[in-house]
Amino acid sequence: MPRFYIAALTKNQTALTKIPFTRLPKLSLLHSRQFGVNPARKSPVSDKTKIAVNESNQSFKLENLFNVKDKVALITGGGSGIGLMAAQALAVNGAKVYITGRTATKLDRVATLYDNNISGKIIPLPADVTNKDEIRRLVSEISTCEGHLSILMNNTGISSQTQETEPEDASELRESLFDDPAATFDDWDSVFRTNVAQIFFMTTAFLPLLQRSSADEHGWSSTVLNTTSISGIVKVAQHHFAYNASKAAAIHLTKMLAQEVSSSKLRVRINNIAPGPFPSEMTAGESDERQKSSIPVEKYREKIPAARPGRDEDMASAVLFAVCNQYLNGQTIVVDGGYVLAAGSV
Ligand SMILES: NC(=O)c1ccc[n+]([C@@H]2O[C@H](COP(=O)([O-])OP(=O)(O)OC[C@H]3O[C@@H](n4cnc5c(N)ncnc54)[C@H](OP(=O)(O)O)[C@@H]3O)[C@@H](O)[C@H]2O)c1
Repeated sequence: MPRFYIAALTKNQTALTKIPFTRLPKLSLLHSRQFGVNPARKSPVSDKTKIAVNESNQSFKLENLFNVKDKVALITGGGSGIGLMAAQALAVNGAKVYITGRTATKLDRVATLYDNNISGKIIPLPADVTNKDEIRRLVSEISTCEGHLSILMNNTGISSQTQETEPEDASELRESLFDDPAATFDDWDSVFRTNVAQIFFMTTAFLPLLQRSSADEHGWSSTVLNTTSISGIVKVAQHHFAYNASKAAAIHLTKMLAQEVSSSKLRVRINNIAPGPFPSEMTAGESDERQKSSIPVEKYREKIPAARPGRDEDMASAVLFAVCNQYLNGQTIVVDGGYVLAAGSV
């Protein structure tokens, strides 16, 4: 019988090899091995597979990807600006949101206005979160009312004194940064107390309630979301050294907490959102009868690639992503319209 050979490159070979025709696998098999296709899979699709595929598709629906229904959240500084945007994002989608701040009237107004015709709830809970006794009281109230906490958003923040950094003369620069009576250690203390230490004490105080949420709520790991800032990332001082230094510290604190909490085997994810400019009482100086603030678009037209300040929806979608994505831990989510790109980071 004549011996036919076929020249082929088999797996792991670079030189052509002669394979006797009789020992050659069926061409379809050779083809399937080469391209990783299993011909057995060509059989009709079973009902079991159809059900599995349908279930897979369902899990991709927005209401499943970003499901905060019945979650219990606490947002500090929830009475205005970014905290209010986050409170709406969660409460409108079914979460029970406690908002805290020092000014009860502000919180009450938010609840009166926004806790209407929504599937969740907004509940005012006044407190000063730079005080340990007040934090203990918050923990006790949430513990009594809910028994667990699914989402903690440490959003409270204050700005620091501003200073001119433009002088090119050493004495003038010293005058602006050191001699100015507004440049004080007290200013740095209060900014770091509110923007950094507060995150540490709030997060650590709530760990047992957060851990209970992960244990009780199937498929959910509770989460801490800190509001930091692009001010902690950009290389410029933006005329407020203390504020920018505090936000850089808050970003690093987020990472340290995420590391230590996860290495203690607790199922609590800890991330931070670093916003660019958004309208708030801090950036606009006030809020209107809806507890909303506004900043002129022109202010940022040339400064930011997006050519505008952030909108409520920009923050809302980032918050929903950060709290819902179960695979996100120890990260900084920058929501800034490209501010950092334009300003440059260290
Ligand atoms: N808006 C922006 O462009 C921007 C950009 C980057 C980062 N951020 C950060 O975003 C966060 C929210 O600020 P915002 O811009 O939305 O300003 P905001 O409207 O002034 O909100 C800050 C909130 O924190 C509350 N607060 C301040 N000190 C507190 C304390 N000791 N205890 C409890 N609540 C306290 C304030 O309410 P009371 O005064 O009534 O207590 C206020 O409602 C801050 O961390 C800020 O640094 C803002």
